Amino acid sequence: MAKRILVTSALPYANGSIHLGHLVEYIQTDIWVRAQKMLGHEVHYVCADDTHGTPVMLKAEQENLSPEQLIEHVHEEHSRDFYDFGIRFDNYYTTNSPENQQLCEEIFGSLSDAGLIDEKEVEQFYDPIKQMFLPDRYVKGTCPKCQTPDQYGDSCEACGATYSPTDLIEPYSTVSGAKPDRKTSTHLFFKLSDARCEHFLREFTQNTDRLQPEAANKMKEWLGEAGETKLSDWDISRDAPYFGFPIPGTNETKFFYVWLDAPVGYFGSFLNYLTNHQSLDTTKHTQDFLRKGGETELIHFIGKDILYFHALFWPAMLEFSKFRTPTKIFAHGFLTVNGQKMSKSRGTFITARSFLESDLEPEWLRYYYAAKLNDSMEDIDLNLSDFMTRVNSDLVGKYINIASRSANFLAKKFDGKLTDLSLTDNEVMCCFFERSETIADAFEARQYSRGIREIMALADRANSYIDTQKPWELAKSASHTDIEKLHEVCSIAINLFKILTVYLKPVLPTLAAGVEGFLSLTSLKWSDSKKCLPRGHVIKSYKHLMGRVDQKLIDKLITLNSQESIEPKTHSSEPNTKKMTVKKNTVENASDITIDTFNKIDLRVGKIIEAKNVEGADKLARLKIDLGDEQRQVFAGIKSAYNPEDLEGKLVVVVANLKARKMRFGESQGMVLAASNEESGIFLISPDSGAVPGMQVK
Ligand code: 2FM
Ligand code: ZN
Repeated sequence: MAKRILVTSALPYANGSIHLGHLVEYIQTDIWVRAQKMLGHEVHYVCADDTHGTPVMLKAEQENLSPEQLIEHVHEEHSRDFYDFGIRFDNYYTTNSPENQQLCEEIFGSLSDAGLIDEKEVEQFYDPIKQMFLPDRYVKGTCPKCQTPDQYGDSCEACGATYSPTDLIEPYSTVSGAKPDRKTSTHLFFKLSDARCEHFLREFTQNTDRLQPEAANKMKEWLGEAGETKLSDWDISRDAPYFGFPIPGTNETKFFYVWLDAPVGYFGSFLNYLTNHQSLDTTKHTQDFLRKGGETELIHFIGKDILYFHALFWPAMLEFSKFRTPTKIFAHGFLTVNGQKMSKSRGTFITARSFLESDLEPEWLRYYYAAKLNDSMEDIDLNLSDFMTRVNSDLVGKYINIASRSANFLAKKFDGKLTDLSLTDNEVMCCFFERSETIADAFEARQYSRGIREIMALADRANSYIDTQKPWELAKSASHTDIEKLHEVCSIAINLFKILTVYLKPVLPTLAAGVEGFLSLTSLKWSDSKKCLPRGHVIKSYKHLMGRVDQKLIDKLITLNSQESIEPKTHSSEPNTKKMTVKKNTVENASDITIDTFNKIDLRVGKIIEAKNVEGADKLARLKIDLGDEQRQVFAGIKSAYNPEDLEGKLVVVVANLKARKMRFGESQGMVLAASNEESGIFLISPDSGAVPGMQVK
């Protein structure tokens, strides 16, 4: 019986580009959706940009845009990236929508009515200059344990200690540089510690059909033993200024926390999709897919890092507000590249766009990910040399080869017409038909790597069949029987190729469309994997269907992403001093770049002609620097080590082609270089005497 399924992928934040790590999930989901659709199920695949919260608000400000303008640009960029990688959402929307706002208000109203919303006082850091409460990630300071400066508010990168932002020594706001105050404010909490929530979540998370075993175990850990409530109430409000939905009844002083409205965005996108598709009955579909009691399924694909939100907070919100809860939550692992975390300095923090700009085919990546993915939460590795070998040997060497070896004989000798195979009892063909269910099951179970192994084993069989039958020799024969045999062998080979195309179609939709054109077929369905093409069916002459991955393209990809890594991507108000911190295990600092990459940095000798304090920013000095033929203003975070007045007349090294950045205090038009380590503080880099302003540093 056809299933009815609403499928989602996690909503990407609207403040950054899509990269290959993101694509693991979208490709995984898209393959799943395509396979289910080919099998005849009713599937609706929706997603949206996750648009709210402080990072989007600040990024918009940094770019001199309104948040609405920023999210509109990002929406266009994300939509294009997804489209170009063959991801076909039925709807790609935004969380900043009227549908989402209405749903959030309804859910919040129901939770309030159920007595599940509480008010509590919360003490937080407050930026007195920016006049806003600071999320933990915007507070830095010295680690209370090992005294390393510039550590985030929750943990120390140097010694690994975890703490709360209020434990930091000399905390400062990374938004303005100011010393933050501690201030209290009333927040709204979803009472997850309520016995009803706990009871519901125990049952919900221990259903093995719903969560992977490792996810269910994690939940058990988080929930603790029955009666031993480990869940804390969840703070769902944020104070103004905040880009988000105002909480009803708070006079626009409080907003829903982005993680409350983000998953609701799945439903918002679905409602918007129904509105735009007149053929779908909005009332019935809303009832069937979003409300309790329907026969439909709700399936979320997510990364393992956001399991907490999807398996605890989100289902509890739904359960107590009369919406349906998720049927299944499928979590996947992270992506590593060449065995390591993606890294900008190694050129392996690869954006989706740069992959396309390197002339690498998106379907190569789809194939490689499919060959690696399974239903576990293990990380997957994109090994770039394995990627090249695998794609070339599997797709070109095995699969495409079947068509190129047989189609030309059909075109030359039989006008492209296939012979009658209805009575042919061919063992290889039977085997191809028989694997249909097993391969469909592998897709359904998200064991794509198993599916791909099955498919490639079939491709091997098809090639051995051709090797044994030697059509190239049959074609040389003058005997009628041999020519008939040639017709049969090539017709069988083309049928095998067609069946493999059905099996690969969820993974390689564009290639499959090319094959459909070549074989003169309309859109292949899963059931076509059990059918032979009829006698007399005419195929077109073989044309190039897919090329090989070339090492040059991979080199280009790395170069493109290395170039990106030297573009300034720091936060708008972070001081413009690049501290060359000496760290242990600094793999990122030590990676190789080419001389061309280095030459892109315009390093110049500068002379500080004026240095002043910056009011409201304890760490910053405002420097006026003579660069020979021009003067620049640079804000540098060096005040812990220098009195501004002592700096006047000093020669420094300036990154002269760093894009200017607007800060609260004015524009910073470059960067001065300094060395630092944990014990000794900051040391400006100066050239030997004799150097003059404007001189190039090489
Ligand atoms: O972790 C993230 O990238 C979030 N933007 C995912 C949100 S998924 C859902 F809850 F909206
Ligand atoms: Zn530390």
